[in-house]
Amino acid sequence: MPAQGSAFRDDVFEGRVALVTGGATGLGKEIARALGQHGARLCIASRKQENLEAACRELQSEDLDCMWVTCDIREPDQVERVVSEILDRHGRLDIVVNNAAGNFPAPISRISYNGFKAIVDIDLRGTYNVTKAAFEAYLKQHGGHIVNISAPFQNLGVSLQAHVTAAKAGVDALTRSCAVEFGPYGIRVNAVAPGGMEDTEGLARFSEATKETGGGGTNPLGYLGTKRDVANAVLFLVSDAASYVTGQVFAVDGGAGIDMMKMRLPRE
Ligand code: COA
Repeated sequence: MPAQGSAFRDDVFEGRVALVTGGATGLGKEIARALGQHGARLCIASRKQENLEAACRELQSEDLDCMWVTCDIREPDQVERVVSEILDRHGRLDIVVNNAAGNFPAPISRISYNGFKAIVDIDLRGTYNVTKAAFEAYLKQHGGHIVNISAPFQNLGVSLQAHVTAAKAGVDALTRSCAVEFGPYGIRVNAVAPGGMEDTEGLARFSEATKETGGGGTNPLGYLGTKRDVANAVLFLVSDAASYVTGQVFAVDGGAGIDMMKMRLPRE
């Protein structure tokens, strides 16, 4: 069954402040919405002001407390500005979701040097930049939560994603190193690795690309996950239900990643 509703109390994050990078669209917006619906005050940050304004209006129309700041996470000074604007407005920052990412499916022959750099800069360096800025300015003194949105395939080999697998393997490594260094500060750091999720830009791009290669296929649960499934995993990881969980990469993929042979037996 796809995710329906929430297993958490509506006010479980009351009084907390959450930053979601890439929170104006797609998965990020749904993660922000889920945190807001459970009481968190939100800041969404990304590059395009028009997307941020529209998303903020939408979330506010649902009675959620939302601010936005434009930011390219590749630029440390812009990232620091986001954190300082949140602290100016709310005086705290409890939850950081590093969701912003870039992706385009392409074989290595069609990934330029700069294309490879762009993805590593956004996905890996951007995650580091936001993590470091939030840690130095607030989390180090007060504790909190960091969730990095990773990917499901970087421990395997996958065509058309050399730049992304390299970057996301770095994100997973960063997740573990940050968890170890930040544990003593009361900061838990985890990652969520979504598989193919319906109605996302990532899946749309991939479906187009896999038409050529014949990839795709089903997972053991037999249906596509939703953005809400990913958001629910984030809620879990930043909640007290996961209070002893840190440094983990948590797959939300219907079992696709552990399904070696992809054999489906008929149900008895
Ligand atoms: N195929 C091959 N190369 C591509 C490409 C594609 N579809 N899209 C971008 N590139 C290359 C560009 O050609 C450029 O390299 P060049 O200078 O050698 O020509 C490089 O990537 C950077 O592109 P540019 O558009 O200047 O960079 P950007 O920093 O504005 O962002 C993306 C590029 C791809 C990261 C951005 O468009 C993006 O994030 N798009 C998708 C977002 C998305 O799908 N998110 C969901 C993640 S699952």
